[in-house]
Amino acid sequence: MPKPWLTSLEVSTPQEGYELAVLMARVAVKMTQPSDEIRRKLRTIYEQDADALIATSSVVATHFATVAAANNYWKE
Ligand code: HEM
Repeated sequence: MPKPWLTSLEVSTPQEGYELAVLMARVAVKMTQPSDEIRRKLRTIYEQDADALIATSSVVATHFATVAAANNYWKE
């Protein structure tokens, strides 16, 4: 993760916005659990847990709402 890693919320397309939202969600996990080893261990659990995956979707949706608003919903 480069530093600084979040210099702007402005992106060209909704898809780029969604990718930024996923990145924002993942960075929060990395900041709160800096151990690669522990994250790898937890990944093997959540990748098979439908509720956890639905929860990740929800976190990403929240970030996406912020990014979309920051880009004025990509209206002309
Ligand atoms: C992989 C998203 C939470 C640990 C991934 C991948 C995505 C993702 C999209 C696939 C990357 C790829 O294969 O290209 C998210 C989102 C999360 C979340 C949106 C929460 C909202 C977590 C948590 C942990 C974790 C809670 C563990 C504490 C990992 C690890 C990998 C991974 C170790 C595999 C290695 C890597 O690609 O970096 N995650 N994740 N993630 N996630 Fe998560």
